Amino acid sequence: MTIQWFPGHMAKAKREVSEKLKFVDIVFELVDARLPFSSRNPMLDQIIQQKPRLILLNKADLADPAQTTKWIDYFTSQDNQVLALTAKNDKSVKQIVPAAKKVLSDKLDREKARGIKPRAIRAMVLGIPNVGKSTLLNHLAGKKIATTGNKPGVTKGQQWIRFGNQLELLDTPGILWPKFEDPDIGQKLALSGAIKDDLLHLDDLALAELEFLRRFYPDQLKERYGLSEDDLFQELPDLLIEIARKRGFKDDYDRASEMLINELRSGKLGRYTLDRFEELAK
Ligand code: G4P
Repeated sequence: MTIQWFPGHMAKAKREVSEKLKFVDIVFELVDARLPFSSRNPMLDQIIQQKPRLILLNKADLADPAQTTKWIDYFTSQDNQVLALTAKNDKSVKQIVPAAKKVLSDKLDREKARGIKPRAIRAMVLGIPNVGKSTLLNHLAGKKIATTGNKPGVTKGQQWIRFGNQLELLDTPGILWPKFEDPDIGQKLALSGAIKDDLLHLDDLALAELEFLRRFYPDQLKERYGLSEDDLFQELPDLLIEIARKRGFKDDYDRASEMLINELRSGKLGRYTLDRFEELAK
């Protein structure tokens, strides 16, 4: 789903999230593990303010594990609780409850000391489009839930999904806008599939992908397309031509570009992290 974000949408999304915050103990901020910097909403701190938060680096199955570890250490060093997650995997999803309890341990201890009976933690899922919010809610619910509210500006009655007896989630996620001022971030969001192609030229995107892969994951690129070391370090357009030729696409570079982008997004090119910890963590 591609959402065009206009100022009115943003104001409404912010208002809706603020409304929902009142009902919950904790926010699950869903981020794409391949984009731990670029897939966060730029105003999140301001929107959620002091509400406790658990950062979930989702699609960890697609991300480079070494980079994920560095990002987890980084977020932790900034006093955040963070968990690498694969929302499609029930075992992975089960780790959320203990992590949420850890975030809320002071509050839960205080309630216990005051004799308040243990109760389910109330949470909401929040994130930019395509980070896996619906997938996570469906896995927590144990079934496919209706997604009529899964658009900014579409509201419906508040309902809760129960996960065991320890967690209750608002059944509609909070949807916020991505960072889009910086063209590099836009390009990375497009490469991950968070923004759909029509906003950017396919061939520009494919060339950016090739530049990224040959810098950080040259072996994965060579292996997937049967390239030699020499093939890799020719001019980028020549590299695209070589790949198109090897795949039998002749001079159909649009088709080759589309194939490259789809294979990156789906993980066929191996695991990768677009946001490099060394360049972005400050
Ligand atoms: P959203 O609500 O935040 O907008 O995201 P949504 O759950 O719709 O997920 C967006 C895409 O990301 C979906 O793929 C979904 O399957 C995929 N996804 C979500 N979590 C994970 C994960 O942990 N690992 C992997 N590998 N993929 C994940 P899609 O191709 O758009 O849809 P579909 O073909 O799966 O239905």
